[in-house]
Order: sequence, then structure tokens, then C-alpha cells
Amino acid sequence: MRAIKPLIAALGLSLSVTALADTQVSIDTTKPGPVINKNIYGQFAEHLGRGIYEGIWVGPKSKIPNTKGWRNDVVGALKELQVPLVRWPGGCFADEYHWREGIGPRDKRPARVNTNWGGVIEDNAVGTHEFFDLVEMLGAEAYVNGNLGTGTPQEMAEWLEYMTSDSKSTLAELRRKNGRDKPFRVHYFAIGNEAWGCGGNMTPEFYTHLYKQYASFLKTPKDNTPILIASGGHTDDTSWADHLTANVKPNWALRMDAVSFHYYTLPRGDWTVKGAALKFPESEWMSTMVNTLKMDQFIVNNKKVMDKNDPEKKVGFYVDEWGTWYDVTGDDDPGFLYQQNSLRDAIVAGLNLNIFHKHADRVHMSIIAQMVNVLQAMILTEKDKMILTPTYHVFKMYIPFQGATSLPLELKNVPQYTLGNASIPAVSATAARAKDGKVYIALVNANPNKAETVDINLAGVTVNGVSGQVLTAAAMDAHNTFAAPDTIKPAAYSAKAKNGKLALDIPAKAVVVVAVE
Ligand code: AHR
Repeated sequence: MRAIKPLIAALGLSLSVTALADTQVSIDTTKPGPVINKNIYGQFAEHLGRGIYEGIWVGPKSKIPNTKGWRNDVVGALKELQVPLVRWPGGCFADEYHWREGIGPRDKRPARVNTNWGGVIEDNAVGTHEFFDLVEMLGAEAYVNGNLGTGTPQEMAEWLEYMTSDSKSTLAELRRKNGRDKPFRVHYFAIGNEAWGCGGNMTPEFYTHLYKQYASFLKTPKDNTPILIASGGHTDDTSWADHLTANVKPNWALRMDAVSFHYYTLPRGDWTVKGAALKFPESEWMSTMVNTLKMDQFIVNNKKVMDKNDPEKKVGFYVDEWGTWYDVTGDDDPGFLYQQNSLRDAIVAGLNLNIFHKHADRVHMSIIAQMVNVLQAMILTEKDKMILTPTYHVFKMYIPFQGATSLPLELKNVPQYTLGNASIPAVSATAARAKDGKVYIALVNANPNKAETVDINLAGVTVNGVSGQVLTAAAMDAHNTFAAPDTIKPAAYSAKAKNGKLALDIPAKAVVVVAVE
């Protein structure tokens, strides 16, 4: 737009502002919105493929430098992301996990077949104590997912007692015997996972009854009471959030603090042929964007039913699995869900984070799937090597938004990115006042072909300019490899205001995060 303005003037033409204006972003810093919960930046480590074993856990005897079995390079990179919480042990794995098999001397733990993921032997080397070593090293909070599908209320209640009791009970003493004197702090605890599918193929009605039964027996010390999460719906199904919030009415013996929700972005929207992680046509760039933007409407629909049943917004809506899911390529075990991660994933991450910020009043947690080597991962590993993905870089750029106060933002004159019959708004934006007092703005240009100019009007602050970072590349599927780990990484970005006005040039297919100066 700015490039053609002098040409239009030289030709003596006047231009219609509404027809040709740049994208207009208005941010009102005087009207703070809800806090963007830091947990929107949650991570997921499931016993799945190389997500834990090899990826982060190598065992204390490994030649790969590690602390208590967890590899130092990966833990170091995750620390830099300021990971707020880690969900474990699944996923589908959680509903077949029996916690007693993962405590005590590692060489005496039973071996099981991981029936969900590749049929490999699960030797239970990573169990409760090892998981807490990891979260404590990361300075993160623990989200433990309980087994409803093949467990019992007793088994679930006893796991919580084992982890949280400071008493002299036999279970607390067993924890001490296994090397941990003080209780583990369990911040979040989920009763089952995907009860509509791998967690037991239940109906919302049947699960709700079970939820009430199990939740009644989860008794923990007052200073170590986890937020209790019910397993909710997925994609366009609001019946779970509706049924749960209408029928679980908290009382002295029953709590439900949040309902979970899962939605994965498949380029082709088809579980049999999902689409490739790399070398995809532009039509699949577009369909990935179209499908990922559906997250917004899914949240709106769920919020509507929850607002009806819970107008005080006491129950959180936790999108505790989201991200891209592609076809596994090459010789890799299809059950390991290993996929490359490209600039397209970075755009998907930025778009979803902006959506979660917009719904910060109800979305208090979101967890990308998964942290290492699985689906839309932060980090990929190969033996002793590690690479950071474009998604990792976006999460790092967005750190200032963790715990920031959202600011109302209005977008006008947003150009459409169109391909064939599909069309989406090219620009997405979010703004917040971070804990350091500065205003941060994140902008995503989902158009792979065209740069956009965004005019930013900020009410309530004087603007001299902005500085931050941009993530972009020439190719839609630009990605890092073990041979070329820095092919795509953030670059410095800054712009000066002119007469108090900010106009930012956002390159095609880019994520930009800036602080206002
Ligand atoms: O993240 C991979 C799997 O996707 C999880 O185990 C399950 O909950 C979901 O279907």
C-alpha cells in the first residue's frame, strides 16, 4: 500500500481510503482485558514414540549429558521457553497407565506393551518420581492425567495420596522409601482423557456419572489440592462442555474446575490422508490455515454453552491438545507420530495463540501436542543432536504474553488471502501489557505471497517505535534439519513511528512480535 501511494499521488489520482487502506489495528491500552493465563503456553509429554524416551529421557547412564536421566540440551532449551506446565503421561496412554508400575527401582519395574503407540515395550523407566524431576528442573507446574478408562477410583485416589500426602500413611512412607520425603506438588489433575474415544468410547452422560464418582474420592491436603479437569469434547462437539457444566454442580464433596477440549489441524481434514509436513502445494497451505482458524468458532460455541450453565465463569475451558497432525513419512513407525515442522507450523502456532488470547476470559490453559519429537513439536532430536523448530521460535517470541493483561484490539480493512474457493483474513493480531509494563503486539501474516502493511493506533500511550523479532523464510515449508539447524530462526525487527503513527510492514508468511517503545 505504502509503495503505491507516491505513484497514485504522482498520477494526480485521489484514493478512496476504505478501498485501499492498509490493515488498521486499534489497541486501547486504557481498557485492560482479562489476564492471558501463562498456562496457554503449556506443553505435553506423552509416552509416545520418541516423545519421552530418546527425546528427553536418556537415563542416568547415557553418554548423552543428562541430569537424573533427562538430557541437558533439551531441558536447557525448554527452560528458555519458560514452560509453565507439563502434561503427563498421556493422552491415550494415560487411560492404560498404572502408576504403581512406575515407582521403585527401575530395573524391577514391569514391562508393558504400549498398545496405543506402535506396540513398543514400555519399561516404565519414566514414572512419577522421574516426571517430577523433570518439571522441577524446568521450574514448571505438573499436570498429571489420571486413568479412568482401565483404572478404578481407588487406584486414582491412591496415586494422588502417594504424590501429595505429608502424613505417615503407608503410601506416603512408600514415596519416602522411593526417595522423596516431601510431597510432590500436583497443580492439575485430569480424570481420564478423550472419554469419547481412546479413553473408553463413552457418551457425555456416562462419563459425567463416572466423573462425579471418581472426583468424590480424590482427597488431597488443603495446600496441595490440584485443579480438577474433566475430559471434554473435540472439534465441533459442544455436548461435553454442555453436559458437564449443566450436571456437575460442585458441593463440599465434588469439584470440577475445568473441562478439556481437543482439536488438531489436519491439512486435508481427513484422518486417512492428512497431508504432508513438507513439500506440500499452496492449496494445502491454504487448507491448513482454513482448518486451524476453525479453533476460534469451536471456542465461541463452547463458551456459549458454558456461559449458559456457568455464567460466573468458574469453570475453565482447557484446550489441552492442539496443533498440526500430518502423515508420517519414510520408514518411521506410523505409531510414533514424528513429523517435521516448518514455517507453516509457525503460522499455525501464531494464529492459535492469538485466538487463545482473544478468549482469555474462559481459555485458561492450552497445551500444544507435543513437546519433543511428536506432532507439532518444539524440539526434534536424533541421537545426541537436537534442533529447535519454527514452532519453538514462535513460543519463545510470545513469552512476554505469559501472564500479561490482554488489551482490546480491533482489526479493520483486513485484506483477504484467497486461493481458489478458499479465503481467509490475511492478518491476525493480539496485544497485551506484559509483566514488565510494556505493551507487546503480535502480528501474523498468513498470506504466503504478499507482504502487508499494518497501521497501528494505540490509545493511551505515546509511541516512538517498536522493536522485537520476525520469523519468516522464502519457502512455505522452510524448516530446520540436523545438518542445517538454523535455516529458519527469528531475526531482529524494528520500526520508528512517524508523527506518532506506526505503520509496520509484515512480510508474507511471517510472525512478528514487538514491544512498543
Ligand atoms: O497427542 C496424540 C494423541 O492425540 C493423544 O494421545 C490423544 O489424546 C489424542 O487423540
